Amino acid sequence: MEYQPLKYIFQPSPKLDARTLLLLHGTGGDERDLLPLANQFDPEAHVLSVRGNVLEQGMPRFFRRLAMGVFDEIDVHFRTHELVHFLRDLAVKEDFDENKVVALGFSNGANIAGSLLMLYPELLAGAILFRPMQPLTDLRDGFRTSRQQPVFFSTGASDPTVDPAANTKYVKLLTTNGYRVTRLDVAAGHNLTREDTTRAAEWYQSNFAPA
Ligand code: MLT
Repeated sequence: MEYQPLKYIFQPSPKLDARTLLLLHGTGGDERDLLPLANQFDPEAHVLSVRGNVLEQGMPRFFRRLAMGVFDEIDVHFRTHELVHFLRDLAVKEDFDENKVVALGFSNGANIAGSLLMLYPELLAGAILFRPMQPLTDLRDGFRTSRQQPVFFSTGASDPTVDPAANTKYVKLLTTNGYRVTRLDVAAGHNLTREDTTRAAEWYQSNFAPA
């Protein structure tokens, strides 16, 4: 299968060396969904918001799933490589630094961001994972980052889609392999709350001083 380009919105910062916020929507969303959050996190960043290339009954996603919470891991690999290929091309075209990209993803978007952390461990400068699930279970060669990037990981205490023990295992996996994970458990379900975004924005500002 050939890589396809992704639909996207790019909002350049006047500061050329700014960070780039990579926004990744949840199932059924699109590249407009998370745009309103960008300013709260980093008013000086370039903003790149992309739409997943997979359609599930008309709903955009970043990779295929076999059932709720059961991922087609071959497709996770393919779509992650496709996204990185797209990102690297766009970094040249739009002139942003590919080493200064911070991903912010919700649900399925958090899961493709997690796959970036696992398959391209040195790539992202950090990641915000809202309601994530571990996207890959069987990485033969493991993964490791030497950049010790910060990762914000927020779960919903009554989220019916995720097993709390799986969250703990996923946090441990990321930490063991070199990421600095901050976990927040919110009294909520799968939906994103103001507490998630407020705490994540505070976390972002304490980890990423203006570039
Ligand atoms: C979703 O609804 O998107 C799932 O909870 C997560 C996923 O499928 O990646």
